[in-house]
Amino acid sequence: MCGIVGACAQRSVEELLLNGLQALEYRGYDSAGLTLLAHQTFKTFKETGKVARLAAVLGEGTFAGTTGIAHTRWATHGKPSAVNAHPHHSHDRVAIVHNGIIENYMPLRQRLQQAGYIFVSDTDSEVIAHLIHASLAHTDSLLEAVHTAVAELIGTYGLVAIDRHQADTMVAARSGSPMVIGHGIGENFIASDQMALAALSSQFTYLEEGDIALIQPKSIAIFDDALQPVVRKQVEIDAKVSVQDKAGFRHFMLKEIHEQPHALRQTLRERLDFSNLARAAFGDQAPALLAGVEHVQIVACGTSYHAGLVAQYWLEDMAKISCRVEIASEFRYRNSIVPSNCLFVTISQSGETADTLEALRLAKKIGYQHTLSICNVATSSIVRESSLNYMMHAGTEIGVASTKAFTVQLTGLLLLTGAIAQQHHCHEAWFEQYSQALKQLPQIIENVLNVEQSIADLAEDFSDKQHALFLGRGEQYPIAMEGALKLKEISYIHAEAYAAGELKHGPLALIDNNMPVIVVAPNNELLEKLKSNIQEVQARGGVMYVFADQEVHFDCIDSMKVIRIPHCEPWLAPLVYTIPLQLLSYYVALIKGTDIDQPRNLAKSVTVE
Ligand code: M6R
Repeated sequence: MCGIVGACAQRSVEELLLNGLQALEYRGYDSAGLTLLAHQTFKTFKETGKVARLAAVLGEGTFAGTTGIAHTRWATHGKPSAVNAHPHHSHDRVAIVHNGIIENYMPLRQRLQQAGYIFVSDTDSEVIAHLIHASLAHTDSLLEAVHTAVAELIGTYGLVAIDRHQADTMVAARSGSPMVIGHGIGENFIASDQMALAALSSQFTYLEEGDIALIQPKSIAIFDDALQPVVRKQVEIDAKVSVQDKAGFRHFMLKEIHEQPHALRQTLRERLDFSNLARAAFGDQAPALLAGVEHVQIVACGTSYHAGLVAQYWLEDMAKISCRVEIASEFRYRNSIVPSNCLFVTISQSGETADTLEALRLAKKIGYQHTLSICNVATSSIVRESSLNYMMHAGTEIGVASTKAFTVQLTGLLLLTGAIAQQHHCHEAWFEQYSQALKQLPQIIENVLNVEQSIADLAEDFSDKQHALFLGRGEQYPIAMEGALKLKEISYIHAEAYAAGELKHGPLALIDNNMPVIVVAPNNELLEKLKSNIQEVQARGGVMYVFADQEVHFDCIDSMKVIRIPHCEPWLAPLVYTIPLQLLSYYVALIKGTDIDQPRNLAKSVTVE
């Protein structure tokens, strides 16, 4: 959600903080702020809107702060405004930046107000600054003050504090929101995401739950929640990805749509050993584990949840194993039955989605013994807390609307389906057909991208529309859901998805010539049924856009545009038909002039529940 970056150095840190914020901006971007410290003086800048606005007010960089903390915000408590932007201060002595949610901020706020503290913002985070300030009345140590303050917090936090009286010192703490230290030479850094520090360091240490770190230019000390020194592993990550690099594309989203063939090649690389797919794709432990699995429970959010829904069709149809899929925020707040020999699968691009992470923790607590993550970030909490991991290798995804991560997740789930099927002794002939098709997948996706121009041409039809309906059947129903999510997310057109067989149970009442109906129609065993559903829409004056297999015949009528999609195996169709829907939402949003990579009210990584 929000992004944090902090630095203490022997040089001015203003520019590197700004660069770090820019790298994190895709996570939250409704306001940004920065506090610099030099000569026992704080200088703070805050602006609503994007980091570029903050950069504009920073001016000439005449205040050479050598320590500083910065934040880009995604509002939870209090509207986006300069006053609610971080850093928050207490008595011009303490400044803090915070990610997460403090659930008990109200009683803390009341208590602090009674003690004379004046609150200037509506945020939950401001209590942290005042609590640290109050603790500094009893100790000179910022580390101890932060430790005392966080002991009072209920909720989640990744935070960094600085004290005007303590030059060259930052204290960071983590509980529920990731924090990573970047090691420099004579300077050290902290951030909520390694990407903010990629240009500054290749050596990183991830704080663990409950850790507190004292960071100074030449030293780093980490303590556990009892303030006992601990050693955390230092890892080398050389990922100098330029997040500014759109490689000639107008938006990251379009770049990432086009990166899909490459991302699929990357995810399949070294995994297509069909003599033992389980081992090649999921590691040494996987063959025995998958052989014993009798049920799969998938939990995820948003686009990742849609990937899980597709997998349910695949696993039950091809691997002949029962599968249940649930939205993480639902799973974690109900009492569910733990089936025996069940594999608990989380799907998450970021690996930090709060609801998915908490669902994983709950699953382990209630007795799921085997956990598998399908994730794009090797250092994420979800990966670290799962027993098996499928690293997606999709490359960094910057656009808030998930595109390449979705098709790569589907590919990982296809491999899981094949691996379970093989461990459960599926038919050799089927497995041979499966293997051949999987090898061709990246090329097939490359071919589908050729529909781009025809989709760009029809996007104009949607520019004045308020609503749209997406229809699919079978494993294309979740693809219709994903298409609707993409359209609403970046073009702000209200879109809904229905299993086409459900139309007559209500949604048909909505059909008129103002509501475009988008249909995904691959050549599969449900096609004739789908054609009947198309007739139902047509008979009621609906305007349709049908994405159909090029080998399938459709009678041309005025109210229906058919967009031809290259033929593919039916079970590859979810990946194939995703591509035109991604392009459609992109080109509609382009015409509408929305902020495609950073749509309003959203953030890339949802680290609060
Ligand atoms: O990082 P995750 O895959 O866990 O994120 C889950 C959702 O927040 C995410 O897929 C979201 O729905 C996307 N913005 C959709 O494009």
